[in-house]
Amino acid sequence: MLVDSFGRTATDLRVSLTDRCNLRCSYCMPPEGLEWLPKPELLTDDEVVRLVRIGVERLGVTEVRFTGGEPLLRRGLPDLVRRTVELEPRPRVSLTTNGIGLARLAGPLADAGLDRVNVSLDTLDRETFKRLAHRDRLPDVLAGLAAAREAGLRPVKVNAVLMRGVNDHEAVPLLRWCLERGYRLRFIEQMPLDAQHGWSRTDMITADEILARLGEVFALTPADADVRGSAPAESFLVDGGPETVGVIGSVTRPFCGACDRVRLTADGQVRNCLFATEESNLRDALRDGASDDDLADRWRAAVSRKRAGHGIDDPAFLQPARPMSAIGG
Ligand code: 5AD
Ligand code: SF4
Repeated sequence: MLVDSFGRTATDLRVSLTDRCNLRCSYCMPPEGLEWLPKPELLTDDEVVRLVRIGVERLGVTEVRFTGGEPLLRRGLPDLVRRTVELEPRPRVSLTTNGIGLARLAGPLADAGLDRVNVSLDTLDRETFKRLAHRDRLPDVLAGLAAAREAGLRPVKVNAVLMRGVNDHEAVPLLRWCLERGYRLRFIEQMPLDAQHGWSRTDMITADEILARLGEVFALTPADADVRGSAPAESFLVDGGPETVGVIGSVTRPFCGACDRVRLTADGQVRNCLFATEESNLRDALRDGASDDDLADRWRAAVSRKRAGHGIDDPAFLQPARPMSAIGG
């Protein structure tokens, strides 16, 4: 098992398949994009599957989430999903995507055994989308969401990040829109993970603010105060339920104490935290001929060093050198 010195066990593996993206969300990367990882540094499909297999067979991983960058840009994704669901014991397999390309791929991904998707959607307004993501792709995202539902990838979850003066007036319209379509909306507090280091605490729309805005229109009651477990979202029944809305207070309501995640970057580095400043290079070990046992040992050691929390409130907090797009959400 992947246990750290605070007694937490990592069972939820996030695998970034590429650091590239076809959007440029301002909380993530600059409009001109970033210098992408060169192809030879990326894990091949076989290398990804080998590491995931070690996680599942030897280290107690029960959930595998493919992320990016934008994971739909990785060719052969349905095949990677299929090879992952064939592992024993079968992990649950999900995807975090910006939705572009999902209109075409939702069916093949569902056929390959994908269980669930999370789609990022921060605005319903095309102009705002263009301003926020620097690409005119809102219609593609909406088509992708509809296709995910059609393909039976349920529940379809929607992630939204609110930014002051950009889309923070859309909390209520976004929730209404998602409720009408049966999507489960979660708001995520903006975290200091953008490549441009433009995050500021005062610009961040906090969980309290989001709840206050929603509370003006909807009656919200805590849905699962007792069963939150390791889920980062606090879940609220909307107008008595059964529909819910989630709020992920990554910064103001940290959930590090219950964290069950571990990350593998597209270039094969284990990160024990989004905010880790240290990584463990499984790729080079693997390419140097390390055995499964050896790789599992390195992975365990990497997780054992996980820190208690992200420390964003600590004056000594250092933003990780890699941006979100190169870590995986
Ligand atoms: N803060 C909060 N959420 C972020 N995401 C990307 N960057 C940030 C950030 N700086 C979100 C995306 C996506 C998920 C992977 O994380 O919108 O939904
Ligand atoms: Fe792409 Fe996601 Fe970053 Fe937006 S947040 S630029 S969709 S990787």
